[in-house]
Amino acid sequence: MKTPTPIAEITGTGRFLPENVVTNLDLERSLDTSDEWIRTRTGIHERRIAPDDMCAAYLGAEAARGALEEAGADPGDVDILIVSTATPDRWLPSTACDVQAILGCDKAVAFDVMAACTGHLYALSMAEGYIAAGRARIALVVAAEKMSAIVDWTDRKTAVLFGDGGGAAVLQPSKGFGRGILSSHLQSDGNLANLLYRPGGGAIDPISQSMLDEGRHLLRMNGREIFKNAVRSMAEACEIAIKKAGWGAEDVDLLVPHQANIRIIEATAKYAGVPMDKVFVNVDKYGNMSSATVPVAFDEAREQGRIREGSNVVTVAFGAGLTWGAMAIRM
Ligand code: COA
Repeated sequence: MKTPTPIAEITGTGRFLPENVVTNLDLERSLDTSDEWIRTRTGIHERRIAPDDMCAAYLGAEAARGALEEAGADPGDVDILIVSTATPDRWLPSTACDVQAILGCDKAVAFDVMAACTGHLYALSMAEGYIAAGRARIALVVAAEKMSAIVDWTDRKTAVLFGDGGGAAVLQPSKGFGRGILSSHLQSDGNLANLLYRPGGGAIDPISQSMLDEGRHLLRMNGREIFKNAVRSMAEACEIAIKKAGWGAEDVDLLVPHQANIRIIEATAKYAGVPMDKVFVNVDKYGNMSSATVPVAFDEAREQGRIREGSNVVTVAFGAGLTWGAMAIRM
């Protein structure tokens, strides 16, 4: 397949992580778990947890500042602001409107996209569409996740996996040189919604005393089934995105996968035909920050020089919905 001409390119990235580090040893004090179990089953050593008064919009806005600065764009220049989040600060209005107000992106159309851990890829793809339609020249794509607010801290099966953080990217029309998003493959399957979900708190099970007493507003997960689906879906999405970009697996300089579990990352990379020395991993430091994991990893990989001008990057994610997807990007 011929390499397509990109429409939009990433001109800036940013990240923000709360300072507070919670190690596996810290969790041992409140949960029937162990550092050894968590490390061997997930690869996670520690995660960042935001203080009570630090909201998701703040995490996202701080990440966005770095991305805008690198792109040389003022907040007032942003045409479209999309926030991906599984942890909106409030049900109304959107977290994107709060980020807009914090940053002063006064002329932007701002809205949230809810696609769980795949949210950043969904949001990038929507921003690319706005640029393709000539409706935007500067798109700010933000991921803002305060997972600690929706995790059941008494459930060892989920509490050890997640962390808080924000990531961001600025997308602009491609200036040429073949740089930008070359391909994407996004998919969903609502039939498997109950593998990872929050049963209560929405219109179907409004807030009530019994909902709170039973913790139905908190995250529930079938870990084993999620694991199997994640590997299969992410490997397949990588393969499709790589092919649509006109590449083979050997053309990929760096794979930036969603950081949920090191075993999922290793299995995905293996099936996708990308060796682990070309895979970016930071799940050990942050755990799963839902949609913020991909932009945070992307930004760190650039800072470490693992993504440079001309690098062929594939990013891939998977999450509740189910949702999944991959993108091939030439930087
Ligand atoms: N500490 C100690 N023991 C734990 C534990 C913890 N934090 N969590 C679970 N266990 C126990 C279980 O209770 C079970 O004990 P039992 O055999 O006595 O019943 C045992 O460990 C094995 O549990 P199991 O769920 O089969 O483990 P697993 O190997 O499947 O690993 C996950 C569990 C959650 C790490 C793994 O399934 C996973 O990573 N799934 C994907 C989750 C994910 O990434 N979700 C987000 C997607 S975006």
